[in-house]
Parts: sequence; C-alpha cells; structure tokens
Amino acid sequence: MDQDPAEYRATSREHWAAAAGAWGAHRDVIQSAGEPVSQWMVDAIDPQPGHRVLELAAGPGDTGFLAAELIEPGGRLISSDAVQEMVDQARARATELGVANVDFRTIDAEWIDLATADLDGVLARWGYMLLADPAAALRETRRVLRPGGRVALAAWAEPAENPWAAAPAAELVALGAIEPPDLDQANMFAFRDPERIVDLLEQTGFAEIVVEQIAISFRYPSLDDWWDTQLDLSTTLARQVGAISPAQRDDLRDALDARLAPYVAQDGSVALPGLTHVAAAGA
Ligand SMILES: C[S@@+](CC[C@H](N)C(=O)[O-])C[C@H]1O[C@@H](n2cnc3c(N)ncnc32)[C@H](O)[C@@H]1O
Repeated sequence: MDQDPAEYRATSREHWAAAAGAWGAHRDVIQSAGEPVSQWMVDAIDPQPGHRVLELAAGPGDTGFLAAELIEPGGRLISSDAVQEMVDQARARATELGVANVDFRTIDAEWIDLATADLDGVLARWGYMLLADPAAALRETRRVLRPGGRVALAAWAEPAENPWAAAPAAELVALGAIEPPDLDQANMFAFRDPERIVDLLEQTGFAEIVVEQIAISFRYPSLDDWWDTQLDLSTTLARQVGAISPAQRDDLRDALDARLAPYVAQDGSVALPGLTHVAAAGA
C-alpha cells in the first residue's frame, strides 16, 4: 500500500526527534565509517573562501563542518535538519570542534526556507531518499543554488551490500515477525538503484551529473555493541524487536550472530561492510 505522504512526514519527524540523542552519542561510529563519503561530497562541491554552503538533513553535522573550514575566510555554513533535536546535536558538535562560521537552522528539505540563487553548494549525506517527495527537495535544492552551484549527496546501495543496517530486517522477515519492507517507498534503500538518482537529478534540472560508489566499514568492539547501537539509532528496529517474544528475540540474535560471523575477528571485534552511492551535479 502506498504511504500517505502527510502521515509519513509526521511519523518520520517523530522518529528522528526520538533518535537524535543516539545519533549524537554514536556519531563517532557513524563518522569513522562515513568520513570518506563526507570527503568525496565536500570535494564535489569545490568549496572556496567566501562560499555559502547549506547542509540539509545534517544530523550531527559532520559533513558540513568539513566544508566550513574550506570556505574561510568570509564563507558561511548553514547546518540544518528538519528536527530541532538534531540541530541541537549539530550545534553541540560544532562547539566541540570549534567551528564558528556556521548558522544552525531547522529546515525541511522539501520546503527550503532560503532565498533563491543564494548558495554555492548544498550537501546532504543519506538524506534525500528518506523524504516523502525527493523530487520536491531536489527542485528546492536547485532553486536555492546559484547558477553553476553544486549539490552533493549520498544514498545507500542495495541492502545485501549493507549488512550493518539491513541484516536485522532480513532476519525479522525470515522469522515471520515483519512483512518484507517495500523498498520503493521512502526509506534508506529507496535510491539503491543509482539510475533513480540520475533520473531525479535530470528531472529536477541538474546538469553534469556524476554518480560513484564508495565502500565503507562500520567498526564495533563486538557484535553486542553493534546490536545495541542499531537499536539506539533506529526507533523502528527498536519497536519491531520490542514487539516480538523473548524467545523470538533469542532466535533473532542467534540468526544475526550466524549471518554476521564472517565479519567478526578473532578478538571479537567487528567490521561490517557498507556500500553507498555518492552523486554530485550542477545547478
Ligand atoms: C540517516 S540521518 C543522516 C544524518 C547525517 N546527514 C549523517 O550523514 O550522519 C537522516 C537525517 O535526515 C533528517 N531528516 C529527515 N527528514 C527530513 C526532512 N524532511 N528534511 C530535512 N531533514 C530531514 C533526520 O532528522 C536525520 O537527521
């Protein structure tokens, strides 16, 4: 059944507001894995001193903060997210890093409340595919970019390439605890086919489109740490696991331990692979 966009947007905001504290607390694990992705994206918008750069769906804000130093002197970063709770995480992180040339805004990527042709670059790591109407957000992105300004984004490849995130749902489906998710609706794998990214960028008026893949690795001291982190980061997973019986939870963990055993080292530490598309285009 199709998602009702208004209902999806409301639920999604609740989800992200509730998960914001955990995204701040676990930002090191996310950023150690995601750094090469941030780096690719920042290079792709070619930040120059004096530039104005917007980060959408910034979460704890690390990708934008990499750009912030490159636009000094005179440049300004707008670090934004749909939910205030995430913006608070980014503000705390900027203080920790000593990033000063940044303004924090609550901005919904589908309705960007900024002037037309005002920006040199827009960054959105793992954001657009989560939106009810990604085309609306990309149209808005192009509107706020000056002619020739650049957007860079990241979006996850196939679930099978991303066991760090996809393994729990696969095993919950195998247990009969949930229906197979509809990956064509808004969700982290909605842009798994890179053609979808190219089509959307073309449809929304972007040019000079580049799409690449980056393989990354999420590292944890143990599978237990991975599991606790996933339950913290995803309120959906926490709800699904909360809804099954204790016996099913044991079966789920056994199945996950078996599925992920190939990624566990002798000392119990884990390196779970991930694969993400990265894309850039000019307005
Ligand atoms: C998967 S997290 C990615 C966070 C960060 N970009 C990163 O790479 O670590 C997705 C982020 O998108 C934000 N988000 C969800 N819907 C949004 C919307 N409609 N507009 C702007 N941000 C949104 C969430 O609050 C969350 O911070």
